Amino acid sequence: MKLLVLNGPNLNLLGLREPTIYGTENYAALVEKIQKYCDEKGVEVSFYQSNHEGCLVDQIQQSYQSVDGIVFNPGAYTHTSIALLDALNAVGIPTVEVHISDVEKREEFRRISYVRSACIASVIGHGTDGYLEAVDILLQRGRDV
Ligand code: DQA
Repeated sequence: MKLLVLNGPNLNLLGLREPTIYGTENYAALVEKIQKYCDEKGVEVSFYQSNHEGCLVDQIQQSYQSVDGIVFNPGAYTHTSIALLDALNAVGIPTVEVHISDVEKREEFRRISYVRSACIASVIGHGTDGYLEAVDILLQRGRDV
């Protein structure tokens, strides 16, 4: 099984950005944690982060028939991007939406997720451990099909 961990805008600033909301672990530490977890589970994983919506669309398109699942934190594009929703629907790759913070309990505008309808599950408000939960969900799905 091959997974892609895709992160949207400002997630490269983890550790620095609003630590009371997103914690003190930086992006490199997050990547290391997910890599270690996937190594233990025998899962191949790659990572991509961009602050640009079109680059995220490109990455999703390039994943067609080359990855088995996507762990996706679209950052603020969650709440605005029909292009990301369309890209996910176009490629049909099983995707789990992840949010570090509890977007349901923050500003009203964060309750809207355009990508959610294209995802098999959402992991919300479990900190960066949510990425590991998303890996497990995709692994479980891989076993079930
Ligand atoms: C986020 C929540 C979004 O509302 C925000 O814009 C982010 C991060 C999260 O992981 O909690 O950039 O996706």
